[in-house]
Amino acid sequence: MKNNIIDDAKEYIQNLFVEAAGSHDTDHIMRVYHNALQIAEAEGKGDIEIIALAALLHDADDHKLFHTVNNANARRFLEKHSVNPEKTEQIIEAINSISFSQNRGKKPSTIEGKIVQDADRLDAIGAIGIARTFAYGGEKGRSLEETLKHFDEKLLLLKDEMNTETAKRLAEVRHEFMLSFLEEYAKELNDEC
Ligand code: NI
Repeated sequence: MKNNIIDDAKEYIQNLFVEAAGSHDTDHIMRVYHNALQIAEAEGKGDIEIIALAALLHDADDHKLFHTVNNANARRFLEKHSVNPEKTEQIIEAINSISFSQNRGKKPSTIEGKIVQDADRLDAIGAIGIARTFAYGGEKGRSLEETLKHFDEKLLLLKDEMNTETAKRLAEVRHEFMLSFLEEYAKELNDEC
């Protein structure tokens, strides 16, 4: 894998996300990137360059942050680096197959898409998931109670939607931690002084 394109992708994302808030920032992208490489290595599957670039560019056209069409930000980067059309489409397909809201119930068709989707979903659960959820609720001006609904609506469902065995294993631990958190939260609400 040409390392310079990966380094350039990291820099491109830094610039693109310069104004992004805490729940969807460059740190999120980098965690997803590292999760994805870890899963790919453990599974021994997938084209690493596609996985790495799809992970780094997976939120480059996120509708919550950008008003681009047809993955314009991701495509601009890939074009600038002369990534061939076939590989470009594989990367774009992986990116487009991972969104939770747009692909409810559908699984990515490629192993690269499956791995990056798992990597992104792992970052939505566990201690990091809890922190990001409340950060996002704050960004949207939502109350804690309103934000808590997100656990039932989405976060507690993710464990059963992982594609790879590696992510299933990691998700199990993070899921248990969220359950303990919710249990403690409910307990404190009912605490009497
Ligand atoms: Ni993401």
